[in-house]
Amino acid sequence: MNVLGVESSCDETAASVVGPSGVLSDVVHSQGVHAAYGGVVPELAARAHVEKLGVVVQAALDQAGIERPDAVAATAGPGLVGAVLTGLSWAKSLAFAWNVPFVAVNHLEGHLLSALLEDPAPAWPFLALVVSGGHTTLYASRSLGAYEVLGQTVDDAAGEAFDKTARLLGLGYPGGPAIDRLAEAGDPTAVAFPRPDPGRLDWSFSGLKTAVRNHVNSAGRASDPDVCASFQAAVVDCLLDRVRRAVQRTGIQRVAMAGGVAANRELRSRFAELPFDTYVPPRSRCTDNGAMIAHAGRLHLAAGAGHGWDAAAQPGWQVGE
Ligand code: KG4
Ligand code: ZN
Repeated sequence: MNVLGVESSCDETAASVVGPSGVLSDVVHSQGVHAAYGGVVPELAARAHVEKLGVVVQAALDQAGIERPDAVAATAGPGLVGAVLTGLSWAKSLAFAWNVPFVAVNHLEGHLLSALLEDPAPAWPFLALVVSGGHTTLYASRSLGAYEVLGQTVDDAAGEAFDKTARLLGLGYPGGPAIDRLAEAGDPTAVAFPRPDPGRLDWSFSGLKTAVRNHVNSAGRASDPDVCASFQAAVVDCLLDRVRRAVQRTGIQRVAMAGGVAANRELRSRFAELPFDTYVPPRSRCTDNGAMIAHAGRLHLAAGAGHGWDAAAQPGWQVGE
């Protein structure tokens, strides 16, 4: 079954076709309009999705070499409600016109399951670290739909910490890739930033950006590669510490990682060095994409799921809670 997946929850307009042999096409348009504002402007995101959805979806079908898929999946949340609504409505209209099944997909579940699209894929059960702009959550995923939250951030998400820190360093938006690039030339031990630990398997990142601000105010240097590398090392230490503890606690030795921050090169290389079986999609499938939505939709359709034309946008939709 070839499934078209449509993603529009934030500032990426994305579509992809996933079939029995894997990803047949994967088209992502990143909206440039937000850079001037230092962050995503929800109304502009929704308008830009409406402008691009047609061409992005058509490109995904053309690259896959098909005229119409056997089913359509779309992100229904979590995300910016106006942005989610554009792709969701577009996808439902197409499914209705083509007279094929439609399935609403949770964006976080898309990230969580995205390691299963790769070869080798983790067997169930596996731990999944989802690190994005809005979420930082560690799941024990036991089977399709059975996800237990082991830990999550009590304040900022890891991606949010990257973006806010980049802004105070004058590096623009999105900040994660900018810090990733600058950190390459820096010394990760140059500044001893804190490794906050709120207990259990949770994270706290909001104090880290304050520590960076205090350091920059006293040292007077903003976009120093050493500051970027030291900040990045603190985030990576915190993320990997909870992964190690979760493996110890659950005994599950297979660990997957996904979400925009999983595109970070330092995090990827240190994650791969963990003494467990680790699974990380390529960088382009860690940030938002349509393939993870098509894939999650495909798995749910195969398990018998399907939604009506009244499937609603759910901006706060969580998984495993
Ligand atoms: O998953 P994603 O594309 O969208 C959400 O669902 O939020 O994640 C976006 C987040 C942003 O905060 C961005 O700064 C961060 O992922 N990000 C990175 C890198 N690439 C994207 N953070 C660190 N290093 C990167 N290379
Ligand atoms: Zn995402």
